[in-house]
Order: sequence, then structure tokens, then C-alpha cells
Amino acid sequence: MEEQPATLQEHLKKSKVEPELARLISSFAYIALDAQHQFPKYLRGTLGDKNKYGEAVAKLDEYVNGYLCDNLVKTGLVRKIYSEELKEPLIAHEDAPFVVAMDPLDGSSNIVTNNAFGSIVGVYRTDLPQTGRKLVAAFYKLYGPVNTFVYTVGKGTHEFVKHYDSEGNAQFYLLAENLRMPKPGEVFGLGGDPLDWDPAFLKFAKDLFRKEKLKVRYCGTFVADFSQILHRGGIFSYPSTKKSPNGKLRLTYEAAPMAFIIEQAGGKSWSGKESLLDAASADVDARTPVYIGNRHLIEKLKVALA
Ligand code: F6P
Ligand code: MN
Repeated sequence: MEEQPATLQEHLKKSKVEPELARLISSFAYIALDAQHQFPKYLRGTLGDKNKYGEAVAKLDEYVNGYLCDNLVKTGLVRKIYSEELKEPLIAHEDAPFVVAMDPLDGSSNIVTNNAFGSIVGVYRTDLPQTGRKLVAAFYKLYGPVNTFVYTVGKGTHEFVKHYDSEGNAQFYLLAENLRMPKPGEVFGLGGDPLDWDPAFLKFAKDLFRKEKLKVRYCGTFVADFSQILHRGGIFSYPSTKKSPNGKLRLTYEAAPMAFIIEQAGGKSWSGKESLLDAASADVDARTPVYIGNRHLIEKLKVALA
């Protein structure tokens, strides 16, 4: 009989992840799964409100943010939650060990098109603002054709997939342990308006298919585009542009957790100045240019932008 892969809980235990952190990680995976069961109810429409970035809030954004926040609080493990969709951080349990930063529903523009979207989470012990170096865990859930969950606690990057056990209960089973970005890399996905890119970045982008022979893959959901380069190698960027020098993506909710995950998979991240793990801002809501990929491509990018 084929051997059953480890469940997420078994993997966390075997990896000697501290029990409270392990509980937070596995709780989140199942909370996000429960949230997903309700997605069809919230697929259409916006609330008419704008979030703190001035973006329209989709009904699904609001629902997922509320569901994840309520249930994270119920774990009793969270002191404070910072969310892309909360104007102020949510204060939970004063004595709880963790501070969470999250993008509850990444890729809202893909809701109506039924393309992939995801949830991104970073976990800290100390309050924000903090650099990504202080992350104790980062994980994401990709609501794709299959449900995957990827986490790191600084001991490699590991991927799980939802499937049912013999009793019909949903479990997350190990799909890939210690993921390593394939070299030299196969795909690239670049956001923003190419006419608004820095000419040096435009030239670098052209070289990605002319010289590096990479193929284009861009879906417009950071989690999904990230998953492409994590599994196939290459580079993802949402660069600095003339109109938006700080790019579009958010340092704390999106960039830093994914930088932790990619660096733990042998890749590299870059903000235009430093690793995204070293990028600091007094503003928890700050945006940052994002460049994430194979090490040699990020090194070439640094030379191109210098
Ligand atoms: O969270 C912002 C986001 O939706 C990301 O998921 C994605 O990478 C980016 O915006 C897409 O932006 P655009 O629609 O400009 O390509
Ligand atoms: Mn997002």
C-alpha cells in the first residue's frame, strides 16, 4: 500500500516547531479552508466603501477578512492583527504570544473571473512596525484548482495540499518538503504599466525573454504569480514606476512574508535597495517595489538598475 504523506500537524511536530506556533499555523490552514466554503455566496459586488489604500472593497474581501480575523482571535494565540483590510489593527488577547500581519484576500481583481486568489500571513512575536527579519513564520493559502498551503518557520519552505482522509475529513498532506526554486528558471511575471517602467527595468524585462529565454506568466494575483516562480523558477516583479515609485504591493502584508518564503527556498528578494526582509518603514501600511526570484536573476536586476 502506498505510504500516506505526513499531515501538516505531523510535519510541524516532526520539525520541532514550537507548539503554540504550530497550532497557529495549522489553525490558519483550516480556518482559511472553512472560509473558502462560503466563497460562492460573496462572489459578486462591492460594498461601496474604499479600504485604506483607496481601493474598492469587494464583498468577498470583507467576508474573508472578517472570517479570518474572528477565527484567529478565537485561537487565543493572537495579540494583535494588522490587516490590509483593517483601518486600525485589531487588538485581541493582551497576553497572547503572536502578532499577525495579513493580506486576507490577495488578488481581488480575480474574483469575478474565477482565477486564483490567496491569503498571505506573516507572524511576529514583537509588535509592528518591524522588518521581515523578525518574522517567526510566514505562510500562504492558494485557493486554486486545488488548495495548497505553503509555510516557513525559517527551516525551509514546505507545501501541503488539501485532501480527504479515509473518514472523509479534510487534511493538509505534505506535497513538497524543502522546496528549492528550480534553476535557471523558466517563467517571469511583471506587473504595472510597461510604458511607466524605468527604461533600465524595461531593458532588463526584454532580456528576460531575449537572453534568459523565460516565458511570460502573469495572472494578477501575487500569491498565484509567486507560486509560478517558486515551482518553475524565474522572476516576479511589481516594480517601482514613474507614477508609483514605491510600486503597488504592501511591504508588511504581502512582500515581507513572501520574501521569507522565497529566501527559504533558495531564492532572493529585492526592494530596489535591499532584501525585502531588511526593508524598513515606520508605516505598517507602506508599499514597496517587489522583485522576487532566482538568485542569479535578482543579481542581474541589481546590476541593471544600478
Ligand atoms: O494585492 C494587490 C494585487 O492584487 C496583487 O495580488 C497583484 O500582484 C497586483 O495587485 C496586480 O496588480 P495589477 O492589476 O496592476 O496587475
Ligand atoms: Mn494583495
